[in-house]
Amino acid sequence: MCEDPDRFSRFSARFDGLLLDYAKTAMDDGIRQGLLALARAADVAGARAAMFSGAAINTTEGRAALHTALRAGPTAQILVDGRDVMPEVRETRARMAAFATALRGGGFHAAGGRVTDVVNIGIGGSDLGPAMATAALAPYHDRPRCHFVSNVDGAHIHDTLQGLDPKTTVVIVASKTFTTAETMTNAATARDWMAREVSEPGAQFVALSSNGAGAAEWGIAPERVFGFADWVGGRYSVWGPIGLSLMIAIGPDQFDLFLGGAASMDTHFREAEGQDNLPVMLALVGLWHRQVCGYPTRAVLPYEQRLAQLPDYLQQLEMESNGKRVTRDGAPLSRVSGPIVWGAAGTNGQHAFYQLLHQGTDIVPCEFLVAAEGHEPELAHHHALLVANCLAQSEALMKGRSMQEARAIVAARGLAPDAAEREAHHRVFPGNRPSVTLAFDKLTPRRLGQIIALYEHRVFVEGVILGINSFDQWGVELGKELATALEPLLSGSEGAEDKDASTAGLVAFLRR
Ligand code: F6P
Repeated sequence: MCEDPDRFSRFSARFDGLLLDYAKTAMDDGIRQGLLALARAADVAGARAAMFSGAAINTTEGRAALHTALRAGPTAQILVDGRDVMPEVRETRARMAAFATALRGGGFHAAGGRVTDVVNIGIGGSDLGPAMATAALAPYHDRPRCHFVSNVDGAHIHDTLQGLDPKTTVVIVASKTFTTAETMTNAATARDWMAREVSEPGAQFVALSSNGAGAAEWGIAPERVFGFADWVGGRYSVWGPIGLSLMIAIGPDQFDLFLGGAASMDTHFREAEGQDNLPVMLALVGLWHRQVCGYPTRAVLPYEQRLAQLPDYLQQLEMESNGKRVTRDGAPLSRVSGPIVWGAAGTNGQHAFYQLLHQGTDIVPCEFLVAAEGHEPELAHHHALLVANCLAQSEALMKGRSMQEARAIVAARGLAPDAAEREAHHRVFPGNRPSVTLAFDKLTPRRLGQIIALYEHRVFVEGVILGINSFDQWGVELGKELATALEPLLSGSEGAEDKDASTAGLVAFLRR
């Protein structure tokens, strides 16, 4: 990897303000040609056309996966079952913008006057996208503070509501199904909290859901219900109503730029050829590492504090999409499923788990994200140090340090030969550890839209080549069912005799 002076130009690709560098992997021309041939053989182009056209590619649930419609431009026409869905998408977006504008500008009043705080209650895709994007775009916030509650642990809602004024707070209940236990429990708790000081708490509640009847039954007036179709998967939903908290935080104009960024990535994904196509190349590098090299995990390492929640977001996007053991038609997968995705913001991770990345026995492909420019020009020296750390890490992973170099370092300490040799072993870095870097100019709404859409399409391409349905999530069902059955056992109303010994023992210990 280190010797070829042309590697960077041969193994990197650009789009708009994004640069994908995969020169620090073992990729060569032959491997890339082979991987591109694999993508052709799997008919990625055909699957892509089917997705954008609104075909029912989520076969186990019999629906389209059409999140791209939520960010499509003003003239787009997309037919689902013969009906153009775009007028409804545009109408909902306009209603969201009108509501966000009124709330931000003071036109929408809570019981105590102008709204100071917005609490989004949701989980999974109804939380991770808006929470991650709202944190990422903090420099663009100019109106109410936005908070996110997801965990059913009462500590989460308790600590979030503490200090907020119910008379100037709006609660958004974000749930595609409007039945998710965690969200509905938190929403009821928020309503009780508000009812203690506000005579009409329902007037300060908003619903984002595909289940309009559920929202109505819950007492939320239709003008504050923002609906979306079943073809918007939870983990792909930040672009529509589920993104309302983000729109309120940054304003509809900046939100439009966020959508525009994603739409531009959609066009790039549809039009760029072979190795110039960023989502395709990112997917192929990922497949190479997971399927051919056998690396089980992938670390996402944003050198951008405001992207600290990106690894969590990508965990759902990738692992809920491609963590499957059967193919689209239900046959056992003859390959391994998508990788385990994890990570944390650099430089914090450097002082926690990078030891293993450099010297552990498992190889972990790393994905670095870094911007050329921060939002704090007065702190440019911080940014320079941040970028230097990012580049140093990928360089260290690639180059490593040989035994000979380690011996030379240790020699300078004047240790006895035995001790010196022993210590030198500890200072060897094997190197040749692969990483890709996604560099960009600055984390603007447009760039964030592009980055998220890039990852969405990467997951899609990986799923197509693996032959799996990336748009269902049956693997979350069993735990939900068992939790429903266990809850009464823990509150003491039923015995746990039917449970296995471990579960029964834990129930006995935890019951209060
Ligand atoms: O965890 C399963 C899941 O269905 C996710 O796919 C989804 O994003 C999340 O639960 C929340 O679902 P809902 O928006 O319906 O509350």
